Amino acid sequence: MTLGEIADAVDGRLVNADPATVVTGTVEYDSRKILPGGLFVAFAGENVDGHDFAPTAMAAGAAGVLGSRDTGAPGIVVADPLDALARLARVVADRLPGLIIVGLTGSSGKTTTKDYIGQLLARLGPTVAPTGSLNNELGHPFTVLKATPETRFLVLEMGARGIGHIRHLAEVAPPRIGVVLNVGVAHIGEFGSMEGTAKAKGELVEALPADGVAILNADDPLVSGMASRTRARVVLFGESSGAAVRATDVELDSRGRASYRLGEARVSLDVTGRHQVSNTLAAAAVALELGMPRADVAAALGEIAVVSGRRMDVFDREDGVTVIDDSYNANPSSTAAALRALVAIGRGRRTTAVLGYMAELGEFEASGHAATGRLAAELGVDRLIVVADNAAPILDGALGVEDWKGEAIFAADQAAAIAALDADLRPGDVVLVKGSRYRTWEVADALRPEGERR
Ligand SMILES: Nc1ncnc2c1ncn2[C@@H]1O[C@H](COP(=O)(O)OP(=O)(O)OP(=O)(O)O)[C@@H](O)[C@H]1O
Ligand SMILES: [Mg+2]
Repeated sequence: MTLGEIADAVDGRLVNADPATVVTGTVEYDSRKILPGGLFVAFAGENVDGHDFAPTAMAAGAAGVLGSRDTGAPGIVVADPLDALARLARVVADRLPGLIIVGLTGSSGKTTTKDYIGQLLARLGPTVAPTGSLNNELGHPFTVLKATPETRFLVLEMGARGIGHIRHLAEVAPPRIGVVLNVGVAHIGEFGSMEGTAKAKGELVEALPADGVAILNADDPLVSGMASRTRARVVLFGESSGAAVRATDVELDSRGRASYRLGEARVSLDVTGRHQVSNTLAAAAVALELGMPRADVAAALGEIAVVSGRRMDVFDREDGVTVIDDSYNANPSSTAAALRALVAIGRGRRTTAVLGYMAELGEFEASGHAATGRLAAELGVDRLIVVADNAAPILDGALGVEDWKGEAIFAADQAAAIAALDADLRPGDVVLVKGSRYRTWEVADALRPEGERR
């Protein structure tokens, strides 16, 4: 598109610019990522003002700057660059009529499953599904703008912090296929209840066209119940008998990897955790809808990997310690999944769970932490290291389980948790590290060999 066309699309004012200048590169809001011909979007943040980096972007070859004020560089001035990004994304999506847009949402596993869908669809045609968690009003349109005329499939992670958010994202890039993974307690502080969360997530299937497909989790009643909210055809995935894309005979190996029967085929996953059955079935349902033969889907699922960092990243150290770095984020549902993986891998070995604070639980904060501690004890985790005061209710929950024989350790901060691990780490140990960003990943990094720090 030319700067003139972009100015029209976003209702902006061209400044210092030739309207015929063509943007040939990508749209970026980080001036360090600008390549020749790109469009730099400047946001006035609380700490950093992107407009100050307009000269850097121009020096890197940007075709222009889109911002909320005239920086002196050629560009477009708009009232709200975030809104402009959304409008531009919509115009670009509409200009690519051959593009099939897949949207997915859920409380846990959006990024993981987006990566899986991306890997499967890449076998069918050019696919845009960038790594990372680009699910909000910035990351989502930014992802849309990665699509080119060659792109056949665009896979979009859609997050909701409130009612109307997913509806908005679905207007920015109308999906033809919508996937809802699960409704759990993630971000429940924003919604007040699981029903409130379901209301917000269900906006995805409400936005689907009549010739679209809603791919819903048959095993989660709050998700399968969304069937009544869509005009689209419904495809259920899961382990329940009503699922069209169904896993049976699920088994876990000593590495916590699941295998299952998918129709005639047997799927053997190389990713960790029982919960990956659900995630991979969702991805399989998308691939099947888009024409991949069932046998190919089953084979391809055996080769998919987690590509976004710190999500069930399992590695073995030279000293025989196995580490599960799941420190990207945490909520009670995802921590339950991770604890189950820990004990699956840790059968016959000593297990340690290092658990930090779980954010965004609102009124469920105390009960959510306590339930997580209780589960760790009930699963028989041998050592529980709880990091920082705000996570202490996890410890109380565990200690409330009378017949738990494990060891409870409180660490005041990340450094104390690292010290506790250093003091007693034995060959054969399996260590899970998990928490809501809150720097829990420092603990995971301390367990990595030098040079492999993330
Ligand atoms: N189906 C699932 N059930 C429970 N936990 C899961 C599931 N899939 C992934 N997880 C775990 O949830 C955590 C977050 O995973 P991921 O980043 O894929 O989710 P997300 O929905 O994108 O999260 P966010 O809301 O932060 O974007 C990780 O610890 C991951 O191992
Ligand atoms: Mg995510």
